[in-house]
Amino acid sequence: MRLIFSTFILGIFLGCSGPDQAQKLSPKQAFLDSLLNEMTLAEKIGQMSQATGNWEKTGPVVTDPDMVDLATRGKVGSFLNVFGAARTRSAQELAVNQTRLGIPLIFGYDMIHGYKTTFPIPLAEAASWDLDLIKRSAEITAIEAAASGLHWNFAPMVDIARDPRWGRIMEGAGEDPWWGSKVAVARVQGYQGDDLSSLSTIAATAKHFAAYGAAEGGRDYNTTEVSERTLREVYLPPFQAAAKAGVATFMNGFNDLNGIPATASELLVRQILKKEWDFQGFVVSDWASVQEMTDHSIASSDKEAAELALIGGCDMEMVSTTYTEFMEELVKENPTYISYIDEAVHRVLAIKYDLGLFQDPYRYSDPAREAEVVLHNDHFKHAREIAKRSIVLLENRNQTLPLNTDLNRIAVIGPLADDKETPLGTWSAQGRQEHVTTILEGIKLASGDETKILTAKGCEVNSSDKSGFKNARSMAKQADVIIAVVGEEALMSGEALSRSDIGLPGVQLELLQMLKATGKPVVVVLMNGRPIAEPWMYENCDAVLETWHLGVQSGPAIADVLFGSYNPSGKLPVTIPRSVGQIPIYYNHKNTGRAYDPTERYTSQYIDEDHLPQYPFGYGLSYTEFEYSNLVLDKSSFHAGESISIGVDIKNSGPVSGEEVVQLYVRDMFGSVTRPVLELKGFHKTMLAPGESQTIHFTLGAEDLRFWDKDMKFSWEPGNFKVFVGPDSGDLLGADFKLL
Ligand code: NOJ
Repeated sequence: MRLIFSTFILGIFLGCSGPDQAQKLSPKQAFLDSLLNEMTLAEKIGQMSQATGNWEKTGPVVTDPDMVDLATRGKVGSFLNVFGAARTRSAQELAVNQTRLGIPLIFGYDMIHGYKTTFPIPLAEAASWDLDLIKRSAEITAIEAAASGLHWNFAPMVDIARDPRWGRIMEGAGEDPWWGSKVAVARVQGYQGDDLSSLSTIAATAKHFAAYGAAEGGRDYNTTEVSERTLREVYLPPFQAAAKAGVATFMNGFNDLNGIPATASELLVRQILKKEWDFQGFVVSDWASVQEMTDHSIASSDKEAAELALIGGCDMEMVSTTYTEFMEELVKENPTYISYIDEAVHRVLAIKYDLGLFQDPYRYSDPAREAEVVLHNDHFKHAREIAKRSIVLLENRNQTLPLNTDLNRIAVIGPLADDKETPLGTWSAQGRQEHVTTILEGIKLASGDETKILTAKGCEVNSSDKSGFKNARSMAKQADVIIAVVGEEALMSGEALSRSDIGLPGVQLELLQMLKATGKPVVVVLMNGRPIAEPWMYENCDAVLETWHLGVQSGPAIADVLFGSYNPSGKLPVTIPRSVGQIPIYYNHKNTGRAYDPTERYTSQYIDEDHLPQYPFGYGLSYTEFEYSNLVLDKSSFHAGESISIGVDIKNSGPVSGEEVVQLYVRDMFGSVTRPVLELKGFHKTMLAPGESQTIHFTLGAEDLRFWDKDMKFSWEPGNFKVFVGPDSGDLLGADFKLL
């Protein structure tokens, strides 16, 4: 059998280098065409089907597939949840040696923030505003995965999320389409590099196409209703940016978008993705999302679901088996479907070709390389670097932080203080607790020899039991400072983990209140996968660090910030609301006809809640102070084709060196359609020594001011604009200009 495979594939390789074909077609094109030509309909359908391995399930339980049977009968072109150099090699051997054409399998897996070396959750990394480091996390993920037999990552998730109840907000870059697009590109480049066939890159997936994050009520999988304008202005830009950056695959969303499940959306996939954006990779469904179209009550049978997905442009079906079961029958009934099938298979085979799998199907399954690179020291170094830069300092009353290393006693209290699972976050792939350094461990390593560390749990994350309070109080009372580590466990955010109350679970708030009542300074280290609405905590505790779920190096990274060996520079990629009632709340909202005015009753506001969020988008403090002044434009008006230069002075007027994320926003004052009050258009991260000043320059052109106008043309309109620069979306200097 092996001989047949080798001869066959080799034959095609040799055949395609013949002079006639070479003149007309690239070697890749010629190879793919001849292979497709050789394939039976059943073999083609196999390439359009993906099954899960038995080792890990990342969706509702399905009957354990018979992997050997599926692979040797050519019933699948791909597995997900099959990983490890040795296992992928054996699975690959089945397909390569025992099927007629020996077409290699492609192995996919969810490595959302690392393979074995776990980095901060994506929302946390987005708070670092450091695209190079974000890219580096993706590169390392690819290096570890590619050595472990994996070819394909189901990441990045580029869904814009404006509702923190939605558990998957942790998986993306937050609420802003401009920043979301930059992060999407950095991640795609990190995973894929310049060459998919390199042994240290893997194929990436832009998911979940599209508007999955707009789930009504923030409830995962829920219906989405989004106008085409909002779709194109808010939800699609990161996908388009990923497509432009050459992402290899897209994944359909589970959601019903404006009445059509995304998995069958001709508008999204055939029209926008494959035609307007000229996407050349392939589209995979989400877990059983093809079959679920019967539950969406749009398909009356599994067969109809297969037909709708095929017409919609879904090239590969994940987990459900409607393609395998019904595609032959569908083609018999409607022979024109063969063109959709050929297109889909061509796309799938093209990515396998780009990965180099036809040259050597085992190139990624290398136990020696796996042993050498996975969990490499350098990967841990990077994990610490990006983790400390992802931390956002939300409060720091009376300069409680940074702590002196020579304190007598520090009380480290709270259910997450020594928890090894929570820092891994949700979607932790092969991350393991034994590789995590907890906060307690990090503090012990960083504090001086003379400092005594007292510790108590106080309570569990999500329980009503307060019996541990007494001991926690007694530890707290003996200490110079209390570090309270509270928040959400790993599996309180992520897929199918939406919450209706986004405050601190259980009795953790009461724990904080009890600690504060001791009169000792309370530093809250918040660990969470979504914004936490808990006004008392933010307004009463002495310092609050937003540390998200930071991965294996959580403890050392947090200690770096607590003791000031790193001055925090993270800024929120998402608004933190004061209460669930304010949701949706995001900075780039429209003005309305009756914008909020506290002195006027008939304006847009709540009678029982503040108008402003707890913290605006882009917010984050430092151990130093930055002063902004002299916002100057080089001209007051310009024409399309020209640009305007914006300068602002920034001075570090505080006591220590620090990095600041200087943010640039614009407002289009009048348009043919209503425009947001602010839109992020740029940022600059800069390091300043105490007393140092810098002038930061930005440039804007008409192309930066484009939007979907009243005729749904993506274009700029002449008129009045305001430009704003500042430390966050709630604290800005402004100036006016005109586009002529
Ligand atoms: C369902 C999730 O929505 C998707 O993001 C993931 O890639 C697949 N399951 C596979 O695990």
